[in-house]
Amino acid sequence: MVKFADYEAEQYQNYARGRALTERQLQTWISAFRALLPPTRPLAGLDVGSGTGRYSPALADAFGPVTGVEPAARMREQALTQSRHPAVRYLAGSAEELPVESGSADYAVLMQSWHHVQDQPGAARELVRAVKPGGRLLMHSGHSDHMPRIWWLEQFPRGPEVDASMFRPLHEAVETLTSAGWRVISFGTVEEPSSGSRAELLDQLRLRTHSVFELFTAEEVETGFRRLEHLVAQDPDAPVPGAAMPLLALERR
Ligand SMILES: C[S@@+](CC[C@H](N)C(=O)[O-])C[C@H]1O[C@@H](n2cnc3c(N)ncnc32)[C@H](O)[C@@H]1O
Repeated sequence: MVKFADYEAEQYQNYARGRALTERQLQTWISAFRALLPPTRPLAGLDVGSGTGRYSPALADAFGPVTGVEPAARMREQALTQSRHPAVRYLAGSAEELPVESGSADYAVLMQSWHHVQDQPGAARELVRAVKPGGRLLMHSGHSDHMPRIWWLEQFPRGPEVDASMFRPLHEAVETLTSAGWRVISFGTVEEPSSGSRAELLDQLRLRTHSVFELFTAEEVETGFRRLEHLVAQDPDAPVPGAAMPLLALERR
C-alpha cells in the first residue's frame, strides 16, 4: 500500500475545518447507514480510522455507543476537543489492531480510511474478529473503477485521474473482504448533498486537507486554484454540486 498522508505531521491541524460536513451531508450518511443496519437499538459501533471524529457523534446519536479507533494521536486529540460525545470514546489502534473484545461490535464503519490501511487482508480478518456474526461493515472508500464525479477535482488538470490513482479497483476490496469472512450485501451510492457555496469550498480547499494534493505537481495545483478562483469570482454563492459517493455494505458471516 502507498502511504499518502501524514496525519500526524500536518493534516490534523486543519482537517476538521477543511473537511467539515454540513448537517445535511451528515444526516444523508446516517440515513444510508440506517437502511443497512439492523433495527434494534442500541447498536455498538466501531468508527475505524475515526480521524477528528467527523462521524462518531452522529453515529452515537443515531444508533448507540461508538468506539472511534484512530492511529494518529494528533487526530485523536482533535476528536477529543472537537467531537466529544458522552457515548463516544476515541482509542488508539488501527484497522489491523482493534483495541476491542472479540465479537463486541454490531457494526463497523470505515469512512475514507480503507485506502490508508497497510495490511488490508489483516484488517479484514481483524474486523471479522471484532464484529458479531450477522454484524455489518459499511465502507465508504474510493475504488479506482468507481470514482465519484467531484466538481472541484475536475477543475485541476488530471484531477479525477490523479485521484483515482490512490485507489485499487472495487473487486480487490471485495476479494480481500470476502476471503476473510465478509459477505457483500450491496454496493451503491449515497447522494451526498452540496457542501455549500463555491466561495466556502475554495476556503476549505486552500487548507489542502485532501491527500490528492500531495500527488499533484506544483503547476497543477496552481492551475486548479486559478480555475476555481475564476469560477468563484463569477458566482461566489452558487452551490457546488453534490456527489454520488460509493458505499459498500457487508455482513459478517
Ligand atoms: C481521510 S481520513 C478519514 C477520517 C474520518 N474517517 C473521516 O471521514 O473524517 C483517514 C484516516 O485514516 C486513518 N488511518 C491511517 N491508517 C489507518 C489504519 N491502518 N487503520 C485505521 N485508520 C487508519 C488516518 O490516520 C486518518 O485519520
